[in-house]
Amino acid sequence: MQPGVRKQTRREGLSANSSQFTLEGEAFRILGGSAHYFRIPRAHWKDRLLKMKACGLNTLTTYVPWNLHEPERGLFTFQDQLDLEVYLRLAAEVGLWVILRPGPYICSEWDLGGLPSWLLRDSNMKLRTTYPGFTDAVGSFFDKLIPRVAPLQYVKGGPIIAVQVENEYGSYAKDDKYMPFIKEALLSRGIHELLLTSDNLGGLKCGGVTGALKTINLQKLTRGAVKYLADIQPQQPKMVMEYWSGWFDVWGGRHHVFCAEDLVTEVMAILRQGMSINLYMFHGGTSFGFMNGAMDVGTYKPQVSSYDYDAPLSEAGDYTPKYHLLRDLLSRYHSEKLPAKPTPYQRKAYDAVVVYQHLPLWDTLKLTEEPFKSASPLNMENLPVNNGNGQSYGYTLYETTVTKGGTLNSSNNVRDRALVFVDRVYMGVLDYKTQELAVPDGKGERTLSLLVENCGRVNYGTALDRQRKGLVGEIVLNNTPLKGFTIYCLDMKLDFIDRLAGERWESLPHTPTFPGFFQGQLVVYGYPKDTFLKLPGWGKGVVFINGQNLGRHWSIGPQQTLYLPGPWLHEGINQVTVFEEQEAGGRIQFSDSPELGKTVNVYRHPLCNLL
Ligand code: GLA
Repeated sequence: MQPGVRKQTRREGLSANSSQFTLEGEAFRILGGSAHYFRIPRAHWKDRLLKMKACGLNTLTTYVPWNLHEPERGLFTFQDQLDLEVYLRLAAEVGLWVILRPGPYICSEWDLGGLPSWLLRDSNMKLRTTYPGFTDAVGSFFDKLIPRVAPLQYVKGGPIIAVQVENEYGSYAKDDKYMPFIKEALLSRGIHELLLTSDNLGGLKCGGVTGALKTINLQKLTRGAVKYLADIQPQQPKMVMEYWSGWFDVWGGRHHVFCAEDLVTEVMAILRQGMSINLYMFHGGTSFGFMNGAMDVGTYKPQVSSYDYDAPLSEAGDYTPKYHLLRDLLSRYHSEKLPAKPTPYQRKAYDAVVVYQHLPLWDTLKLTEEPFKSASPLNMENLPVNNGNGQSYGYTLYETTVTKGGTLNSSNNVRDRALVFVDRVYMGVLDYKTQELAVPDGKGERTLSLLVENCGRVNYGTALDRQRKGLVGEIVLNNTPLKGFTIYCLDMKLDFIDRLAGERWESLPHTPTFPGFFQGQLVVYGYPKDTFLKLPGWGKGVVFINGQNLGRHWSIGPQQTLYLPGPWLHEGINQVTVFEEQEAGGRIQFSDSPELGKTVNVYRHPLCNLL
């Protein structure tokens, strides 16, 4: 049975009523891989799915990021890069079944685990519970999402053979009415295929919901895990819903790798047990823009923009040794020959771009939405911007007047990192580690500015409940709270970056002011190719290509290159805009291969054992 074939009689979808899954009554083993449409440039969707099929997988799994689909309450988008239906149809066309993971919480190293930040405007909000402010919002989102995917379910002739209820709720488990609510929210809107839940071994004990098959997430198959699944669900299929093919990276850390041979040994062991498997990730892609999440198990650590994950297909869709070994292994589970591997895309190391103009951040404040005056600091989500939805991502500038110097103390109210200026002169950084800064004495009234960056909201664990950003409380100077703030929303959306073109940029070389915007032109001759952008000698900031946010750069690494998809370039002149906080290198370089930093084996990192 092939997902793409239409007009066949579809009576019995994926069933979990015996020790093996069955599909249309016949034994079926899920050989799945995760690849997220929102992390892959749309023009490359098909390529990645064909490569998945050619590796011997039969099922695609994808999350659905609520925060992107509903950027403002009641404003829904399912187009272009977010055209989920097209993605699912492509999967069917390529011959892949689909397990849909619509959340609403998705974890996934994604800002707030995919929950929209406007939920946090409600000071009583209780995420992932049956608090009405949360369930109502989930209801409106599912009202729009589910009717789009319901017709793509198996019995209706589509590729969706199963749907996951929430994500690892067993590790959060705050409200025992919540999982039944989410299950009902899916069923009542027309989801009829098999329901699943997915949890790590620790979470499995509190996870699941009646009527959904429990699956496990892991990287090393232990006897305990297999036995546990067998004990709780005797005579039902066993599945590893997330077999972690690698791991994610955080700023200031190392690039995680997981040995290809170890992966294949583990996958082989899982398959030998007769289990089904889904590789998380099969292809990680990129958390473009400001979409990265963060870890916080005691210390806040934001994730990098690359989501390469050391997965079988690299961030840019390249074959890796893991891919080849897996293909070899999985080919043994098919009676027919696997399809040929698609030809790899060409790369190009474009000539370095010389940065020729510069615009200080201070000159762009007039291009933001009307600044907000407030006696005390206000967190970004509660600012009266974006049609009453607050600010979701990026930077927020807080300015007030000081008449003397002394000790500035953040009272740990900076989320997550503030550059501090007095009369536009840089004083230093306030963050979780550094909470105090000396402000020199000076004459008369001076402007104190705190440019606060939301470095990414936590996506896992109980810290999820403390993710308001910007300044979340008082900042004190000599123990007295500062008052009288003017607050600017610098979320750096496409229209803002476009508006920069109308400003009077200063030609370089000259001594630039930081923070600031820097521009250069990448001239492409012929058909644009994928490339990797590098910023040697630069400090920290964000990169935009033709106005589109590629992600963050930070010299501390580990990530040193940003993936720049060819389809985001065009023939001729492409505008490269770098927002830079600290120092500019003068040139923007390109490479035909990624640099993700010094590596560390996954098992050396304590965090990965927590999930
Ligand atoms: C869990 C989550 C995933 C992801 C992985 C780690 O299993 O379910 O969304 O966060 O951890 O990459």
